[in-house]
This record gives sequence, structure tokens and C-alpha cells, in this order.
Amino acid sequence: MALLEVNQVKKSFGGLEVLKGVSLEIEAGKIIGLVGPNGSGKTTLFNLIFGLFMPNAGHIYFRQKRIEGFPPHQIYALGLAFAFQLPRLFLQLTVLDNLILAAREQVGVQLGGVLFCRRRWQRQEAALAEKAYQILELLEMTSLATNAAQELSGGQRKLLEIGRALMTDPVLVLLDEPAAGVNPVLGQKIYRNMKMLAQRGLSFLVIEHKLEMLFNFAHYIYVMDKGNLITSGEPQEVIRSPLFYSAYLGEEEESDVVCFGSAKY
Ligand SMILES: Nc1ncnc2c1ncn2[C@@H]1O[C@H](COP(=O)(O)OP(=O)(O)O)[C@@H](O)[C@H]1O
Ligand SMILES: [Mg+2]
Repeated sequence: MALLEVNQVKKSFGGLEVLKGVSLEIEAGKIIGLVGPNGSGKTTLFNLIFGLFMPNAGHIYFRQKRIEGFPPHQIYALGLAFAFQLPRLFLQLTVLDNLILAAREQVGVQLGGVLFCRRRWQRQEAALAEKAYQILELLEMTSLATNAAQELSGGQRKLLEIGRALMTDPVLVLLDEPAAGVNPVLGQKIYRNMKMLAQRGLSFLVIEHKLEMLFNFAHYIYVMDKGNLITSGEPQEVIRSPLFYSAYLGEEEESDVVCFGSAKY
């Protein structure tokens, strides 16, 4: 069974059916793209996977467990992390502290833990700092460890948000537009890091509007339009799909030449 399996999921808000029976699968070690025009239901699908909403129909399996209806903290504890489109950081704290605080099950957060398990708490703090430094190295941000998060650029904040997700030892990370508002060089770096982590077995489900960036790195793409999954495949297959073009262009027919990034297909 796949790491994540979404099976015929439906969601309505009032009378509006926003997801009309969506299915997708994610295997371990893959970067999976989720694309589609605005309003097609991508964020709603993320919110269902992450436990913020309950689907009206269908099932979601994560690591062989049916998780629809689980609260977010329980899904997170199973190894599913979420990096928000707008990073939620502690701006006054350092980069290092932002990472350490993201780790789960800290003894130090309870007063009893501080008072009675001091040794264990100190050991855990040291281990978390070590882990945070490893992640900073991976993200090429070690030199920023002691900077306050508010001193970071928009792109660096996104990287830090991804770093915070990694601190929780996830097996699957959901990313909502990691390259939005980020300069192209840093955007490439975010995707290169993702690729390296995928080679180590981590999986990513990524909503992205910068299609040329996503298509360069993703193993597989799902395309949504108006609450339906309209096509899916490897990037090169999706690029050739008339359905993909009509969704984006709002046209029935594939246009003769469509510019895709700087290349023409
Ligand atoms: N909480 C909500 N209540 C009512 N309508 C919503 C809610 N969330 C999303 N929608 C509607 O669902 C549709 C899909 O939205 P969304 O999932 O954000 O699309 P996307 O992320 O693909 O742009 C939109 O028409 C949006 O207005
Ligand atoms: Mg959205």
C-alpha cells in the first residue's frame, strides 16, 4: 500500500461541492506535485489530509491507517508535517531556537520536566540542538543559526519553515507553494534540497504555481480543475496533455503553441 492514499474524497461547503471525488497516491521517496488553477480545490485537499476538515465522503490512508477524522496533532504524530504557505515563525527568536521549538515531545516544556528530570531535559536539549545544526547544514543555513528569524529574507523564512517541518522526523511533508515569493535562485535551492531528502526516503506533496520549477523536480504530477482530478502523470506526460492546457487556459482545445517557462512545447 502507498504511504498516502486518498480515495474518492468529497468535500462541500454549504451547497458548493469543492472536491468531487478525488483520489491520489504517494509512494515513499517521491516528490509529487499538485497543480491546477485557483479555486480548483488544492488547499482544501491539503486541509483534509492534514485533519483540518472532515471529508463528506471517501477515505484517507496514511501509513496503512485510516486518518480521516483524526485531529491534526494525531496525524502529525504519525509523521505527516505541513509547511504553511506563509511561514509561521517566532520572529524574535533565533533560527536555531525556531528549529528546536518545532521538535515534538520536549521534556522542558512542562515545569515538572524541568524540575525533576533536569539531566534528561539537558540531554534532550543538546540532542535537539545537534539535530537542528544538521538540518541547518542540509539547508545551507548554518551561518544564520544565531540570527533572529525576522532578519531572514522571505525565501530564507520558507527554508526555515521547511526546516521546522523536518525537525519533527516526518515521512511525508505537505508544502503549499514553497517557491512563491522566493527569488529563483533560492527557489531552485529549496527544490534541490527536497530532491536530496527524497533520495533519503522522505516524500513531498507540493502545491506550486511556479510550474517550470516543480516540473523540473517532481516525479509525478496531479492536475486538478473545479474539484476534480483531470489528469496525472510524469511531468513530461502532463506537459503533453490537452487536459492540462485546457484547465489552465480555460479552453476546450489545446492551443497550437503554449509557452511553458522559457521553453515552448
Ligand atoms: N472554508 C471554506 N468555506 C467555503 N468555501 C471554501 C472554503 N475553503 C475553500 N472554499 C472554496 O472552495 C473552492 C476551492 O478552494 P481552494 O481549495 O482554496 O482552491 P485552490 O487551493 O486550488 O486555489 C473555492 O471556490 C473556495 O472559495
Ligand atoms: Mg490554495
